[in-house]
Amino acid sequence: MYSEESMGVCKICHHELKTVISFGKMPISNRFVTGLGAEEYVYDLSLGWCPECLMAQLESCVDPAMMFNDAYAYFSSISTTMEDHFREMAEEIAGFVSGRPDPFVIELGCNDGIMLKHIAGRGIPHLGIEPSANVATRAKEQGVQVLGEFFDARTALEIRERQGQADVICGANVMCHIEDINSVFEGVSVLLKPAGVFFFQDPYLPDIIRKTSFDQIYDEHVYYFSGLAVSELARRHGLQLVDMVPKEVHGGSMRYYLRRGVNHSVAEDVAFHLSQEKALNLHVWRGYVSFKEAVDRICSDLKQTLVKIKGKGNRIAAYGATSKSTTLLIYSQIGPDLIDYVSDTTPTKIGKYTPGTHIPVRSHAHFIQDNPPYTLLLAWNHKREILEKEKRYRKKGGKFITFFPEVAIVYPVNQRFLHRERTRE
Ligand code: SAH
Ligand code: TYD
Repeated sequence: MYSEESMGVCKICHHELKTVISFGKMPISNRFVTGLGAEEYVYDLSLGWCPECLMAQLESCVDPAMMFNDAYAYFSSISTTMEDHFREMAEEIAGFVSGRPDPFVIELGCNDGIMLKHIAGRGIPHLGIEPSANVATRAKEQGVQVLGEFFDARTALEIRERQGQADVICGANVMCHIEDINSVFEGVSVLLKPAGVFFFQDPYLPDIIRKTSFDQIYDEHVYYFSGLAVSELARRHGLQLVDMVPKEVHGGSMRYYLRRGVNHSVAEDVAFHLSQEKALNLHVWRGYVSFKEAVDRICSDLKQTLVKIKGKGNRIAAYGATSKSTTLLIYSQIGPDLIDYVSDTTPTKIGKYTPGTHIPVRSHAHFIQDNPPYTLLLAWNHKREILEKEKRYRKKGGKFITFFPEVAIVYPVNQRFLHRERTRE
């Protein structure tokens, strides 16, 4: 069992944090390296938990301007699953504002416009807040109105002054990125119409704990939300958590719906999810003490599996130069000696090297032509889409290596069924 007192302080309530796991020095997870000579910026990555307001969070954070700028590597429109997901989100929003006078929709972290382009296409007044200029440009090209700033309480007041309050304020995979979350919630409280709705979704802490999917822990993800922590945060800002809806994306996410005030009717699902979280002991320190042990077991199994495969003279590629794999590769000490290259479809990543580990990023065309016998599935959250897309590779004998909740090799026995070969006794 692991227990280390943390010197970190909760960013929400200022109580002292308890350290769940320390990963050591890490580079910026989305900063792909161009030339191999230059020194990379590093920081100490560790996860802490606040026993007072129950929020799991990074103990020390990276300056947002170093992560979110005109060279931000993550473009949201990278998969058909995400395109479908955000089309549905836009439909839900359009339904919510339909018939309302002067509707106004605000999205925080709209990225390349994957969601708001559908709102813009319906002629609904909207605003995307997006500080990363390169992805914001892509959104604007699709008719999306974008404000190129970091959202906080000050920005909220400025928007209210210029454009009035919003019926919907939403954000996907952005709320967990913003260190000064008190300022964001303050901003939402002043910018939301009294009858408006604020909803956001992020990777769900219980999924991370259950699957040991520790690669979700990296510089951009400052917070690891649970319903327990979100309801407390909302309460502190005069908002109420009224619904929780699980989403499959990003390896297990939760969408939280909040309203202004305190006397709303609350969906039964909220009590259900909160009781599930308590059953996992996420309201007490006991729920966190064995996480490091589970992480270390997966890392050691994965490394041993790759060493064994490589030792037999096999090439091993990886699939998806994800930001989260920075934590996995560095903490497991997996580098170019084991992985020949990472295949990725993002043009701005191809030709560069992974942060810290310096594995070359190659195009998908290269992967198809090379046809490696083994491929480490770093973009495991897109497993269904990728296994479907790579049917031909698998039919030719290509094997995918997965690692959550345990290390396994996936290959087709026939066209319809997947066979899992366990790598652990
Ligand atoms: N919503 C998209 C993008 C997620 S990536 C999706 O789910 O795919 C997170 C995005 O939030 C990045 O584009 C980043 O530039 C943006 N971001 C980071 N801090 C922000 C802040 N304070 N306000 C608004 N956007 C922010
Ligand atoms: P994502 O899983 O969203 O991860 P993170 O938030 O950790 O960066 O990123 C997926 C990455 O995988 C992205 O760089 C694009 C790449 N990718 C492919 O190369 N092929 C694919 O079929 C898919 C779905 C993703």
